[in-house]
Amino acid sequence: MALSVKPLSDVLGAEVSGVDLSESVDEGAFSEILDAFHQYQLLRFPKQTLTPEQHIAFSRRFGDLEIHVCEQYLLPGHPEILLLSNELKQDGTRVSIADGGSGWHSDLSYMERPSLGSLLYAVQTPEKGGDTEWANMYAAYETLPDETKKRIEGLKAIHQFDQRSNPRLPPPDLRYRDAHSDELRALTPDVQHPIVRTHPVTGRKVLFVSLRFTIGIADMDDKEGAALLDELLAHQENPELIYHHQWKMGDLMMWDNRCTNHRACGEVVQLPDVRRLHRATVLGDVPY
Ligand code: SIN
Repeated sequence: MALSVKPLSDVLGAEVSGVDLSESVDEGAFSEILDAFHQYQLLRFPKQTLTPEQHIAFSRRFGDLEIHVCEQYLLPGHPEILLLSNELKQDGTRVSIADGGSGWHSDLSYMERPSLGSLLYAVQTPEKGGDTEWANMYAAYETLPDETKKRIEGLKAIHQFDQRSNPRLPPPDLRYRDAHSDELRALTPDVQHPIVRTHPVTGRKVLFVSLRFTIGIADMDDKEGAALLDELLAHQENPELIYHHQWKMGDLMMWDNRCTNHRACGEVVQLPDVRRLHRATVLGDVPY
C-alpha cells in the first residue's frame, strides 16, 4: 500500500497512512516521512501496534535517543522510553509520571541540546479527556508585531527544568511528580537559548520559548524581561496557532520540538480511565 500524507489542520500536522511501523520502513518511504515531518511539523501514524523494541527502532532512524534524566520514569527494561501513565501500583504508588507536560513546552529545552523530536505512542487512552495540543512556533514568530521581532532579535532566554522556581506556574503537585533532588538539579543547570532560533533543516525562524521551561530573559532587567516573556507566551496561546488532538489507541504522534510547543490538556492525573503513553525522544543540536 502506498504511503499517503493528508493535512490534519490548517495550522500544522498531517496524518500518514499506508505504513506499518512495526516493520522495517524502506528508504523510499522513510525519506517521504522525513519530508512530511519537515513540512508539517507533526505527524500522526494511526492504528499502529508497536512493541517497545519496534517503537525504539523506528525512533532511532531520526537520530540518537535521549535517556531521560529522571530514571524512575523510564519503562523498565527499555530506558529509551519515558512512561507517562496515571496507573497505580498495588501499593497505591504511581507506576510513573502521570503529568509529564500540562504546561506548554518543547521537550528538553532545559538541556544544552534540546530534543529534535518526540515519538509518543498511545498504548491505552481514556474514554474522554487526556487530549494533547501542539502550537506552530514558526507561525508564532511570523505573526509577532514587527517591533517585537526587532526587540527579541539576538536575545537569549533562560530555560529551567525544576518547576519550583518558575514564577508563572504553581509548585508541582508532589503527589504526582517527585521533587527534584540536589543531584538532579546538578545534572540540569539552567541553560540559555536564542529566543528566535533557526530551524537547521528548513532555515525558518522559530519563537523558542515556553511557559513550562522558560523562566526569564538573559541580560535584561527582571521586570522588563518578565513583561516581554509574558507577551511572547500569551502570543503563543493564540488558538489560530494550535492543533488539538484527541488520542485514539494505536496513534503514534511524532513532532518536531525545534518548531512546535505542546501540552497535555486538562487534569490528566485525575482521569477515571487509564492514560498510558510511551515516549521516545530524539536528541537534537545546540540551537542557534
Ligand atoms: C509530553 O509532554 O511529552 C507528553 C504530553 C502528553 O502527555 O500529552
